[in-house]
Amino acid sequence: MKVVGFIGSPRAGGNTEHLVREILRGAREAGANTVEFVLNELAIRPCQGCDACKSVGRCRIQDDMQTLYDEILEADALVIGTPIYFWGPSAQTKAFLDRLYGIDVEGVREKLAGKRLLLACAFADADPHTADNTINMLRTGAEWFKMPFYEPVLAVASARGEVAGQPETMRRAYAAGRALASS
Ligand SMILES: Cc1cc2nc3c(=O)[nH]c(=O)nc-3n(C[C@H](O)[C@H](O)[C@H](O)COP(=O)(O)O)c2cc1C
Repeated sequence: MKVVGFIGSPRAGGNTEHLVREILRGAREAGANTVEFVLNELAIRPCQGCDACKSVGRCRIQDDMQTLYDEILEADALVIGTPIYFWGPSAQTKAFLDRLYGIDVEGVREKLAGKRLLLACAFADADPHTADNTINMLRTGAEWFKMPFYEPVLAVASARGEVAGQPETMRRAYAAGRALASS
């Protein structure tokens, strides 16, 4: 079982980073191999809408997303972590998600079916609807790709790394990682 985590916050030591790492720790303790990527450290150009992928079979933009495509296609489960920015995912996360269009091609898309997807979100506002747009975006995407969508890990936290001081939230993150990597 290979679990690949994506950290969509630009803030090193931030809440999303803590959540994703705790999820991956749980997955490892359930026997998985894990890899993580910090999207902000990678070159991921926004999708150009050129539709070259539809004839070539993969996005033609030669940037770090090419490595991520390989990682995704090899993975059994994906963890996508994002802070909530303006009631949606961060720009880094959105650019990454849009670029999945580059493998949403007949003959490739089918390879995503069955891979597990877990979303983790950090946000400041305790309103339970704060992450709704992002959850719905990822859930719909998971349905499209026929990927089982696991119960998202949500954290209300504002300051950098605040979530690390919330044992109950960290426990949920760890448990979600374990569940993701268990059959
Ligand atoms: C540009 C920006 C937009 C934000 N928008 C929201 C928002 O719409 N709702 C919310 O609850 N928090 C919002 N926040 C707060 C962050 O989601 C919160 O601080 C989160 O813990 C950041 O996660 P991180 O530490 O992983 O970066 C925003 C923060 C920034 C910097």
